[in-house]
Amino acid sequence: MKVGVFDSGLGGLTVVQAMRGLIKGAEIHYIADTKHAPYGDKSHEEILQYTLDITEYFIKRHNIDALVVACNTATTAAIKTLRERYPQLIIVGTEPGVKPAIEATQSGKVGILATPATLKSEKYQQLVDTLASGSEITLYEQACPGLVEQIEQDLVDTEETRGMLEGWLCGMRETGVDTIVLGCTHYPLAAERISELMNHRVSLIHTGEAIAKRLLGLAQKQGHCNNGSLSLSLYTTGSINKKAVSKMLGESVPIQKIDRF
Ligand code: DGL
Repeated sequence: MKVGVFDSGLGGLTVVQAMRGLIKGAEIHYIADTKHAPYGDKSHEEILQYTLDITEYFIKRHNIDALVVACNTATTAAIKTLRERYPQLIIVGTEPGVKPAIEATQSGKVGILATPATLKSEKYQQLVDTLASGSEITLYEQACPGLVEQIEQDLVDTEETRGMLEGWLCGMRETGVDTIVLGCTHYPLAAERISELMNHRVSLIHTGEAIAKRLLGLAQKQGHCNNGSLSLSLYTTGSINKKAVSKMLGESVPIQKIDRF
């Protein structure tokens, strides 16, 4: 099975990590679209266009069987169009884990951290309306502009990032939020800092594993037998912090620059 995975940068590698734990007998091709990062402050139209360009590239260049949109922001903007245009592909998107958070919370107070574009999107609003309206649960939504850039530059463990996170989290801490949805695939890379600022009294909801399971389930339905080796090839459309990539993957994987975007 050939799988194309992409995100605006490093974030989608949190999904690749989960895929590596579960998927066998596959070629994974990962694009970090850093030329256009961050996606979270771009318009719906721009994000849709980046997504379609990357998908076309994957199909033409790698003849992929499956596409994983390892990005909440791109999923909200493009998943519907992707499914309409590419019915032959297995397509798995990334949605903030609002449902598991609602199931996990004891206090009934759930924080949602995501990019401005995700929180503004119609798709996210529909998700929240279906799951939380009319329930006892209170959602505290917080856009985190600038956090993706800090993560891309490997600046999570700095005073500056700590200050940004404190500004977004202090209200949640004081009001008794006990569960936080990491609604951007970059944010698991700041999970330790987030947990610290919440005095370690918080469950953080990641979606990487759920995505890997969903991909495996859909692929098996189409005959994928999930054995054999797994290869990972990395590409970037702009510059990338190679040290941060190696730190995440636990090994140094060559990264190829794609110039056509
Ligand atoms: N990692 C992405 C997400 O899940 C995109 C973040 C960004 O580029 O703003 O939303």
